[in-house]
Amino acid sequence: MVHRHTPHWLWSWRLGPFVLVAIACNGAPPAASTPTRGRVEAAPEQSAQAPAPSAPVGATDFASFEDERERMVARQIEARGIRDGRVLAAMRAVPRHLFVPESERDLAYADRPLAIGAEQTISQPYIVALMSELAAIEPGDRVLEVGTGSGYQAAVLAQMGAEVYSIEIVESLGKQARERLKRLGYDGVNLRIGDGYAGWPEAAPFAAVLLTAAPPKLPEPLKQQLAVGARLVAPVGRSYQELVVVTRTAKGFELQRNIPVRFVPMTGEAQRR
Ligand SMILES: C[S@@+](CC[C@H](N)C(=O)[O-])C[C@H]1O[C@@H](n2cnc3c(N)ncnc32)[C@H](O)[C@@H]1O
Repeated sequence: MVHRHTPHWLWSWRLGPFVLVAIACNGAPPAASTPTRGRVEAAPEQSAQAPAPSAPVGATDFASFEDERERMVARQIEARGIRDGRVLAAMRAVPRHLFVPESERDLAYADRPLAIGAEQTISQPYIVALMSELAAIEPGDRVLEVGTGSGYQAAVLAQMGAEVYSIEIVESLGKQARERLKRLGYDGVNLRIGDGYAGWPEAAPFAAVLLTAAPPKLPEPLKQQLAVGARLVAPVGRSYQELVVVTRTAKGFELQRNIPVRFVPMTGEAQRR
């Protein structure tokens, strides 16, 4: 059972390479060929507190924290075995400190998830990189993300050259992410506010689907929106969650288990199934 108001950290070990991994947590704070179209649609399903909007950013904001980003990539990501050059380049390029509330900015490159308001989190950098690598994205691929949150994972995917479609259920977070992505020049990320359970059928099929909140079991519509050969990368489970990769084949679906993780729960329809 996930306790929404109890900060909860789960530490787990990944073998080969042997690493200690802090998993995206739930609850209150313990805390390119970039696409060209942007859009936000649909009615809010929840309203919640979100961090105050940041001041406009300029070129120097991208340049700042460069050393921190380099250290983050070397120590947290490459050291744990991520080798995809586009993932590493994107993690070096996207200014993570501009995706967290100002009060958390000094921790933006730390090896941990951070609170972003509305009892939600921006995932740990390693988890963002791992999911991006497992998705095996090529430039120009159409990719669906369910759980926009701060917009950071969407920006990483766009930086890798993907055409990104992202859905966020919390209206305040979705609006803020849309504004932030536009301000930072990721205005081609297509963003929708609503329950991502049914996916984005008009834009399907997708070359990859990333789910950044954990459903008790995988939503069937998201599997059906994969192209043949495409991958769905998702945390699945309630109290015990695993990161899984589902590949659509000509004959059906293949499941691979990755590491134990701890994500916020997928809300909405996923909880009623
Ligand atoms: C761990 S956070 C995602 C972090 C995000 N990818 C980022 O880079 O900041 C999970 C997000 O999924 C959202 N979420 C949960 N259930 C959802 C649903 N049914 N549809 C869409 N978004 C959902 C939450 O509101 C939250 O913002």
